[in-house]
Amino acid sequence: MPSFQTSPGTRDIMPPDAARWRSFNAIFADTVEAAGYGCIIPPIFEDAAVFHRIGEATDVVAKEMYDFDDKGGRHVSLRPEQTASVCRAFAQHRPTTPWKVWYTGPNFRYEKAQAGRYRQFDQVGIEALGVNDSDLDVEVISLAWKFYQRLGLSGVQLVINSLGDEGDRAKYVDALRQYLQSNQDALTPEARQTLDRNPLRVLDSKRHADIEVIAGAPTIKSFLSIEANNHFEKVLNGLRMLEIPFHQNEYLVRGLDYYRRTTFEFVSTALESAQNAIGGGGRYDGLVQTLGGPDTPGIGFALGLDRTLLACDAEGVFGAPKSSVDVFVVDVIDGRQALVVTNRIQDAGYSADRAFDARSMKAQMKSADRSGARFAVIITSEEFESNNCIIRDMASAQQQTIAIKDLVDFLARNLGAKIPRRLTP
Ligand code: HAM
Repeated sequence: MPSFQTSPGTRDIMPPDAARWRSFNAIFADTVEAAGYGCIIPPIFEDAAVFHRIGEATDVVAKEMYDFDDKGGRHVSLRPEQTASVCRAFAQHRPTTPWKVWYTGPNFRYEKAQAGRYRQFDQVGIEALGVNDSDLDVEVISLAWKFYQRLGLSGVQLVINSLGDEGDRAKYVDALRQYLQSNQDALTPEARQTLDRNPLRVLDSKRHADIEVIAGAPTIKSFLSIEANNHFEKVLNGLRMLEIPFHQNEYLVRGLDYYRRTTFEFVSTALESAQNAIGGGGRYDGLVQTLGGPDTPGIGFALGLDRTLLACDAEGVFGAPKSSVDVFVVDVIDGRQALVVTNRIQDAGYSADRAFDARSMKAQMKSADRSGARFAVIITSEEFESNNCIIRDMASAQQQTIAIKDLVDFLARNLGAKIPRRLTP
C-alpha cells in the first residue's frame, strides 16, 4: 500500500488553524480596504519572464523558481511573490492611477525547508501604483503597522532604509564591490561566492567573519541624490507624525532587486533571527516599465502569513478560534427527524450539527459536548409524539420541553436574531 506525505516545505493547514488563516485574511482585508485598496487575484502561474524582472542575480530567480515548460512549450513559473504579477497586470490592463490593490495567497520558492521557511508559503500584501508622493510610503507602512497591532503583536520592529534612485544604487553597488573585493580574504567562502553574483547580498550575511567586514563597508546614504534623500527624510517625518517607531539600518538591502528609494522590513523580536523577517516591502519605481508598461512609480509590501502566525504563537496572541456550533441535534428515534430539524435551524441562520449512524443517546450526547454547542436539541419518541423536543443548555445542564415549531423563536430569544440562509415561505 503506498503511503503519501506532504512534500518537503508544504503543509496541510488543518482545522482549526485554517479558520485562523481565514480570520487573518479578513482582518487584513478590513484594514486595507478602509484605506481604499481593492482586492486583486492574479494567476498562480505565469510567463517565467515576468518573475525574472525581480532580478536575475537574486536567489529567488537564480535558485528558487518553480519553473517548467508546459505542454504547449511555454516557459511558465509558479509565482515566487505577487508584486511582479501585479505590475504585469497594471501594464496589461492600464487602470487609472492611483491604483491601490491588496492580495492574499500562496507563493512558491524552492528553498531549504525549515521552521518558518517553506516552499509553499502565504503572503498578504498591498501595492499602490502611480504616486511619487512620500506620504504614500507612510500610508503603506502604517497599514502594515496597524495590521500587526490588530493581531495583538507588540514585538514588531520596523527597519527602514533608502536605496536611492537607479543611478544612486548602481554607484553604491560599485563602491561596495570594490570595498568587499579589497577585503576578500577576511570574508567567508560563501560570502566570496555571493560577492561575484551580487555584492548587496553579502550585507545579509549573518556569519561572524562577514559581519566584521560589513561593519566597515560604505553605506548607501552618502550615495543618495538630493531628491532621494529629501524623499526619505519626508517618509521618516511622516512616520514620526503617526508615532510609528522605526530603526534606520543603512545596510538593509532586501532580497529582491527591483527596489528603489524607501525599503523596509518588519522583524519579530519574538522569533529566532534566521526567520524573524515577518514582512517587507518598498518602492519599485522602474518595475512596471520593465514589464512593458508606462513609466509608473509603485510601492507595496508583503507580509508572510505563516511566519507572522509563528510570531503570534511566540507572543501568545491571536490564537486559533475555538470551533463550535450553536446547536447539536440528538435524535434517538432513527435520525430522520434530526435531518429535518438540523436543516431548518441552519436555514434560519444558526449553525447546527448532528450525529449519524443511529448512535446511542450517550454517544450522541458526547458528540454534542465535543461540538461546543450552546444547546442540544434532543428528540425522543415520547416527546416527538406530541411534536415536542427537549432543549438542553449545555453549560448549565438545564432542560425544558418546547414545541419543535417554536425552536427557531427559542434560538432567536437566546442567541439573538440571525439573517436566514434561505427565505422560507
Ligand atoms: P519578501 O521579503 O521576499 O518580499 O517576502 C515577504 C515576506 O514573505 C517575508 O518577510 C517573509 O515573512 C515571507 N516569506 C518569504 N519567503 C518565505 C518562505 N520561504 N517561507 C515563509 N515565509 C516566507 C516580497 O515578496 C515582495 N514581493 C514584497 C513587496 C511587495 N515589495 C513591494 N511590494
